[in-house]
Amino acid sequence: MTHLSPERRSVADAAPGFLPDDEADALRAAAAGARPGLWLEIGTYCGKSTVHLGSVAEGVGSQLVSVDHHQGSEENQPGWEWHDASLVDPHTGRLETLPRARHTLHDAGLEGTVTLVVASTQQTASWWCAPIEMLFLDGNHTEEVAQHDYAAFARHLTEGAVLAVHDVFPDPRDGGRPPWHVVQRAVGSGAFEEVSVCGSLRILRRTATPFEDDVHGDGPSLT
Ligand SMILES: C[S@@+](CC[C@H](N)C(=O)[O-])C[C@H]1O[C@@H](n2cnc3c(N)ncnc32)[C@H](O)[C@@H]1O
Repeated sequence: MTHLSPERRSVADAAPGFLPDDEADALRAAAAGARPGLWLEIGTYCGKSTVHLGSVAEGVGSQLVSVDHHQGSEENQPGWEWHDASLVDPHTGRLETLPRARHTLHDAGLEGTVTLVVASTQQTASWWCAPIEMLFLDGNHTEEVAQHDYAAFARHLTEGAVLAVHDVFPDPRDGGRPPWHVVQRAVGSGAFEEVSVCGSLRILRRTATPFEDDVHGDGPSLT
């Protein structure tokens, strides 16, 4: 179930992206523990993690939706550390990762399992209403958007569903803090329990405790 074929592994490896091998393996293992149904990824970029998640989804008969406006995060823009000039669209002059993501899914043979939503998470959240069995949060890492993405989509996770959060750095010397704040908020609310850690990847599971807004709580304070 968690096995990735050599062909798909080489497609995932060739896709520009931000998921080390050990975290990719842990992500597939977590996905294999999720119930079949609708799975959601926030942050497609060029489709690297989408191949890993999509491969497990295909094996269990799940559908994976992956959301991205495909214009990159702050750190992907010109002059920033994670800018890739080869991904700039000469027509718009902007970063544009959709064509690369489509090539990745084509080459991986996952077009029948993965639905790409080309929109901001704020736009997507305004109409999303489906229950989710697996959620991978790997989008914008600013405090405002990371908190938005958690609040907007994690509420749709069913009891027992899996929440994976990427780029979680408890120590600020290792990286930005917003994903860590999201994990603290999720576990502190009682609506999630932590299952495992691999590098910067945290795996949580939805408990029976109502989602914070459903009980009109303010949530825990962030440290
Ligand atoms: C860290 S990358 C995702 C990496 C990807 N999961 C991988 O395995 O390589 C974050 C992505 O979030 C997207 N993003 C940033 N802010 C967004 C927003 N408000 N709505 C939708 N996507 C956003 C960026 O375009 C970028 O592709």
